[in-house]
Amino acid sequence: MPVFENVGFYYRRGQEVLRGVSFSIGEGEYVSIVGGNGSGKSTLAKLMNGLLLPKSGTVAVQGRTTSDPRHLRFIRESIGLIFQNPDDQFITTNVTDEIVFGLENVRVPAGEIGKRIRLALAAVGLEAYAESAPHELSGGQKQRAAVAAVLAMRPRILVFDEATSMLDPGARADMKTLMRKLHEGGIGIVQITHHMDEVLDSERVLLLDRGTVAFDGRPEAFFRGVPLERYGLEKPFAVRVHEELGWTGIPGADWKERAAAQWKRS
Ligand SMILES: Nc1ncnc2c1ncn2[C@@H]1O[C@H](COP(=O)(O)OP(=O)(O)OP(=O)(O)O)[C@@H](O)[C@H]1O
Ligand SMILES: [Mg+2]
Repeated sequence: MPVFENVGFYYRRGQEVLRGVSFSIGEGEYVSIVGGNGSGKSTLAKLMNGLLLPKSGTVAVQGRTTSDPRHLRFIRESIGLIFQNPDDQFITTNVTDEIVFGLENVRVPAGEIGKRIRLALAAVGLEAYAESAPHELSGGQKQRAAVAAVLAMRPRILVFDEATSMLDPGARADMKTLMRKLHEGGIGIVQITHHMDEVLDSERVLLLDRGTVAFDGRPEAFFRGVPLERYGLEKPFAVRVHEELGWTGIPGADWKERAAAQWKRS
């Protein structure tokens, strides 16, 4: 869906944040974007839906460039962003208004809004919280309200920029389950993460290094071939166990049982 062609970006002239970035993400993919602090991940996310515009090159969504203001509404509906801090993204006074706010921005017909709200709340499991104010919600519930607000726009892709990093382990697990469920429902997922274990959930990894794409491929190849320490990243626990045991490939869902069985044998 988003196609980056030779994209360059800076906040201050002369201090390039992204250089020559080219890649495209297809329908329904599950992609991880990883890289050290300040490598340009959040900037890339904001370029995807036109929150930022490239200084050189182009970003296009289904052939429509983000630099053309006439396309922005379509692009914002197609690609939704979820940010890190649950408190930063709540702008209205309750969950329903939060969803309505987004829908009115993209001018969804009034008669359709009620149905969209119900479906979005159901998708994230917040039906009982429709009238709740931000201070009545946990961090995880606020993040799910943010997901509902973008889901109501019927996006093709959701981009999560470290959206689980401020949540407790339970809420983080709930968000991961929600992401998998949305992916199974056909929505593309792009997750920016520092947690290498989360990369194992995805089908593709993009590694950013000082504003350029240093790797683009499958997680197996990423964990086998890329010297993660060089990029300030750490191998996930499951992959380290795998290597210790001399296994090939990357861990599937059954890695814990396999490891336990092997330890019992030896
Ligand atoms: N609004 C801004 N104004 C000026 N410089 C910025 C701004 N936002 C980010 N930068 C700089 O751009 C570079 C890339 O930042 P970005 O936030 O995209 O990186 P990141 O990979 O998301 O980092 P992190 O892992 O810390 O979230 C950094 O050097 C950062 O300091
Ligand atoms: Mg960031």
